[in-house]
Amino acid sequence: MEYVEIFDTTLRDGEQVPGCKLDSKTKLVIAEQLDQLGVDVIEAGFPISSPGDFKAVEDISKLIKNARVCGLTRALKKDIDIAAEALKYAKKSRIHTGIGTSESHMRYKFNATPEQIIERAVSAVSYAKTYVEDVEFYAEDAGRTDNEFLAKVCQAVIKAGATVLNVPDTTGYCLPEEYGAKIKYLKENVKGIHRARLSCHCHNDLGLATANSISGIQNGARQIECTINGIGERAGNTSLEEVVMILRQHPSLNLDTRIQSQMLNDISHLVSESMAMPVQPNKAIVGANAFAHSSGIHQDGVIKKRETYEIINPKDVGVNKSSIVLTARSGRAAIAFRAKNIGYDLDKLQLDKVYQQFLILADKKKEINDNDLPKIIESSNI
Ligand code: KIV
Ligand code: ZN
Repeated sequence: MEYVEIFDTTLRDGEQVPGCKLDSKTKLVIAEQLDQLGVDVIEAGFPISSPGDFKAVEDISKLIKNARVCGLTRALKKDIDIAAEALKYAKKSRIHTGIGTSESHMRYKFNATPEQIIERAVSAVSYAKTYVEDVEFYAEDAGRTDNEFLAKVCQAVIKAGATVLNVPDTTGYCLPEEYGAKIKYLKENVKGIHRARLSCHCHNDLGLATANSISGIQNGARQIECTINGIGERAGNTSLEEVVMILRQHPSLNLDTRIQSQMLNDISHLVSESMAMPVQPNKAIVGANAFAHSSGIHQDGVIKKRETYEIINPKDVGVNKSSIVLTARSGRAAIAFRAKNIGYDLDKLQLDKVYQQFLILADKKKEINDNDLPKIIESSNI
């Protein structure tokens, strides 16, 4: 079994989301929970972006006991100076620096030639190395960067001392096969690649962030950059809970993380509530409906054997139990089950009568709850 490192960027890429701004006290609470969750790296912020972010990175650096604390920079000396200052109290620190490498970034953002981009990348990494041993380089918009040029950039920054190579699909453009092939290409064509860890940083513009990250690690990457609940710029980042549980549910991949998965549900609530960013009910792993069953066919199966319709034990992600929701689509098995839970043991005849009354109310009311059920039973003349 090999480990894939989890690089959590909830407090940086996640916090960039409009309306998701966190105060520094809440950032500390989330950072501490991420540390207990078992993430390998916490990207705590972008220290030059504001005094508040600088302070948050500094405070998190002082607080965190296990994870490596990382700060983002552009490929600029002043950014790197400030990041190094903010990280100086960390037990383990990393500077994350980089520059755009796609045609469009080089031409429109930097008005620079490919050679100038390589030069800036190398000098940023070399400069960051004067402060810290662990320097991660991001090739922004790597998803749309020509593979041959990307390999050249990676080779140059490894030579300058980069320990991690981040291959961001910044615009969420790639298909899983294409992203996996990019990682494979770098693995096979970059001299010195064994000295660095390849990292996946995927955005979700086409709903492919998780699939692309998994494809990346199947092709040799050993770090995934992700956020709790998949929050992040635009359509978000790869969701931490999804990649962790994909690896747990597929032991044949021979890859795992150090994440304490039983904490996933609680930390999802913490992030959602602190950021006032609701989680969609059908969100994989942490959505309110992720372990809820409402159709009669499914309910009958789950009551007989949970595994018929659930591939994850809810307890493994910190959810107490699966729920059997009573709606007009529910069947007798679900009603008998829920009635038993509140003390009514119905025989077949009684259940038939209750079921008829139940349908009348269920067609009017979206969901039947534990207050409705005794009333239905008592009005059924049984
Ligand atoms: O999406 C991206 O390219 C980023 C980089 C700054 C790593 O967030
Ligand atoms: Zn990003």
